[in-house]
Amino acid sequence: MTTDTSRISISAHYTGYVWFKHGLSATEFATSTGRLANAVLTPINAFLRNVAGADIDVFLLQRHSVIDHQIERLILEEGVEQVLELACGLSPRGYRLKQKYPQLRYIEGDLPGMAQRKQTLLQKIGVDSQHQVFPCNILEQDGELSIQSLLSQLDPTKKTAIVTEGLVNYFDLATIKQVWSHMAQGLKQFPQGFYVTDLYPDFIEHPSYKYVQFAQKLVGFFTRGQWPLHYRSDEAIQQGFQEDGFSHVEVHDPASFYDTLDMPRAKTQTLVRIIRAST
Ligand SMILES: C[S@@+](CC[C@H](N)C(=O)[O-])C[C@H]1O[C@@H](n2cnc3c(N)ncnc32)[C@H](O)[C@@H]1O
Repeated sequence: MTTDTSRISISAHYTGYVWFKHGLSATEFATSTGRLANAVLTPINAFLRNVAGADIDVFLLQRHSVIDHQIERLILEEGVEQVLELACGLSPRGYRLKQKYPQLRYIEGDLPGMAQRKQTLLQKIGVDSQHQVFPCNILEQDGELSIQSLLSQLDPTKKTAIVTEGLVNYFDLATIKQVWSHMAQGLKQFPQGFYVTDLYPDFIEHPSYKYVQFAQKLVGFFTRGQWPLHYRSDEAIQQGFQEDGFSHVEVHDPASFYDTLDMPRAKTQTLVRIIRAST
C-alpha cells in the first residue's frame, strides 16, 4: 500500500479558506486555491442549504468549534500542556490557541509539502519557539515522519493531547484503526494522554443520507480517492476506540453544544461526531 497520500492536501486549502472566511483565522492562512475551491462550490452549498438544511460550511464549523472547545477543556480542566495537531493543514487552531494560552507547547504535523507551507506561513506571522511544524505521515510506523517521532519532541513528564480534524475519513477503517492504536500506544508515554478528533459516521437512517453520499462523491472527486464513513452509532464508535487502546471514550454530538458554543445550527440531525478519548 502506498503511504503517499499527498493527493488529499488540496482539501486543506478548502477548509483553510472556510476558517478564514468565517473570521477564525488571519489572511496568511487563506490561499488562492482555497478561494477558488470555495467559489466553485458556492452553487453546491446553496443547493445543500435548500435540500438538506445545512451546507458544507455548517458541518465544518460545527466540528471545528466543538474540537476547539474540547481542547480548551483539556487545557483548563485536565492540565494538558502540550498539543500535537496532526494533519494540521492550513488550520489556524495552533495560532489561536497560542494567543490565548502562550505557555502551551504546540506542535503541528502534516505531509512534507503541507508542513513546509505551514512552517513558512507561521514564520511570516512570527510565532514563538514553542510552536513548531514538523513533516509527518500518520501511515509511517517508524522513522522521522512517524507519529512517535513527533511525540518524542515533547516533554514526557507533561500531559499531552493529539488532535486531528478532517483526516480520519480519508482512510478505510482497518488502516485508520492501526493509526489510532499507534496514537494510543504513543500517548501512554505521558502522565496522561488524550486524543480529540472529528469522525463522520455512517448514519444510514439520517434523513439527508443521500446528500451525505453525494458529499462523499464530491470529496472523493476533489481528492482523487475514497472518503469512507465509519461506524453506525455512537456506541459502536466508543467500542471501536476502546479496542484501539483508549480507556475512556466520549462521543459528542455538536447539537448538544448549540446553546453554549457559537456555531451555526443544522435544520436536521447533525452528521459529524467529535471523539474525546484518553489513555
Ligand atoms: C481536510 S484537510 C484538513 C486540514 C486541517 N486539519 C483543517 O481542518 O483545516 C486534510 C489534511 O490531511 C493531510 N494528510 C493527508 N494524508 C496525510 C498523512 N498520511 N499524514 C499526515 N497528514 C495527512 C493533508 O495534507 C491535509 O492537510
